[in-house]
Amino acid sequence: MDITKVIIPVAGLGTRFLPVTKSIPKAMIPIFDTPSIHYAVKEAMIAGMKEVIIVMSRGQEAIIEYFNNSLKSDRNSNYNQKMDEISYINNNVSLNIVYQDNPRGLGDAILQCKDIINGEPFGVILPDDLILGNNSIISEMSKVYTQKKSSVIAIKKVPSILLPNLGVVDAKRIESKVYEILNMVEKPKIEDAPSDLAIIGRYILHYEIFETLEKTNLGINGEIQLTDAIDSLIKDIGVLGYQFPEVHFDVGTPLGLLKASIHQSMKNEEFIDDIKSFFKF
Ligand code: G1P
Repeated sequence: MDITKVIIPVAGLGTRFLPVTKSIPKAMIPIFDTPSIHYAVKEAMIAGMKEVIIVMSRGQEAIIEYFNNSLKSDRNSNYNQKMDEISYINNNVSLNIVYQDNPRGLGDAILQCKDIINGEPFGVILPDDLILGNNSIISEMSKVYTQKKSSVIAIKKVPSILLPNLGVVDAKRIESKVYEILNMVEKPKIEDAPSDLAIIGRYILHYEIFETLEKTNLGINGEIQLTDAIDSLIKDIGVLGYQFPEVHFDVGTPLGLLKASIHQSMKNEEFIDDIKSFFKF
């Protein structure tokens, strides 16, 4: 079964970016010149997904406005390739908004989409994880799902200092990029982490996850953790890890956003010499 629906949760408070996030949704802060929500929706579109469900909180409607292509008929000096891309996105995917009124974690955000997902397998893209490369990683993961008929989550080796901020898996490699996940734990202490393979924000999930999420108790930080729900499904239906080779930035932190912005700016021939001379000081 093709994956046609993807959930993009953005309702988090964005505390690392306060005070900007008092008035601007975190997913709208530009990485060089493009907000993370743009990258996330584009990645879904490239993967052929038809329905993008953005889970947001009240006051984040700038995101809806961003995808409004009303400048289309008003070509002016600000009109640029990004506007063309927004029109293209609008023509190829339908955007649905679901409100998460009391953000209680990633698991809770996913749970809000139960009715709209309506029995199908689906993707999840966390815009804080910017993954750049020739391939849309969610598309690559959909292929693994179709081939193996198993839920798939993206994983990456990270320095141990980062493990307490992430979900971490115990896993056995079965193909060059594919692992069988044995168990997973959300935000472990370094000494309790089962490995240095962390969960990165891309998932392809069976619909069964909703039933499990409904029964999942509050986990670490008093939130309903998606990791806890997936972990309890491993024994019943199996879960695979996909270790992606593409470049990844955690743009959920100011430093990660700065690094990603520099990376992206260097792709632009117009600026590259200027940037190189700036870094020589
Ligand atoms: C979420 C997941 C975590 C994962 C991380 C990746 O954490 O719960 O398992 O490793 O995204 O970015 P959050 O960033 O919401 O704390």
